[in-house]
Amino acid sequence: MVVRMLHRYWLKPVVFAACLLPMATLVWQAYSDQLGANPIEAITHHTGEWTLRFLLLTLLMTPLKRFSGWLWPVRLRRMLGLYAFFYASLHLATYLWLDQFFLWDEIWLDIIDRPFITVGMLAYLLLLPLALTSNRYMIRRLGKNWKRLHRLAYVVPALGVLHFWWLVKADILEPLVYGLLLAGLLLARLRKAPGR
Ligand code: HEM
Repeated sequence: MVVRMLHRYWLKPVVFAACLLPMATLVWQAYSDQLGANPIEAITHHTGEWTLRFLLLTLLMTPLKRFSGWLWPVRLRRMLGLYAFFYASLHLATYLWLDQFFLWDEIWLDIIDRPFITVGMLAYLLLLPLALTSNRYMIRRLGKNWKRLHRLAYVVPALGVLHFWWLVKADILEPLVYGLLLAGLLLARLRKAPGR
């Protein structure tokens, strides 16, 4: 009973606040001059990594529910997905504003000349319709097509890993770890839950 009450009234607000911590850390580091010699790079890296982490956390919720039998993970799925979009938007805004000063010609050249930017942009463009349709009205309106559209939730993190992989050049350890985690999450979806 107490656990149920906690889940009902506390789970979402607590997780919502926790998801703001990466943003709060960034604001604190900027305020206290702790972003290092290249603050724009630090912000880009921080927001990029958190986008990828939230994308993977969102994908973790369904297998977690299936294997544990708990219901709470699916109640968090939409919020985590929207946080992925939030951090991706900060990441993109940092690039467009602080890095490129909204010089659209330069940005366009970057998109067509640098494959890791092309893939990052594609990932963001595919994430956009997911964020825009993750409300009850759109779920009802799109019907079966909603599920089809939301399969993009597997494609976006894969593009995110590729984007990371292509930018690191030599030290592939980090994108490799994210790639393996993603592969594990996708495999977990294919496997049946125990006892079913
Ligand atoms: C869902 C979409 C995206 C994801 C998951 C993502 C993820 C990442 C990750 C994980 C990093 C590396 C962070 C690190 O080094 O620790 C990164 C770096 C970066 N991303 Fe993205 N990104 C996305 C979209 C974009 C978009 C749309 C752009 C710009 C058009 C962009 C531009 C960059 C740049 C400029 C860097 C830093 C490159 C460098 O260090 O030289 N990303 N991103």
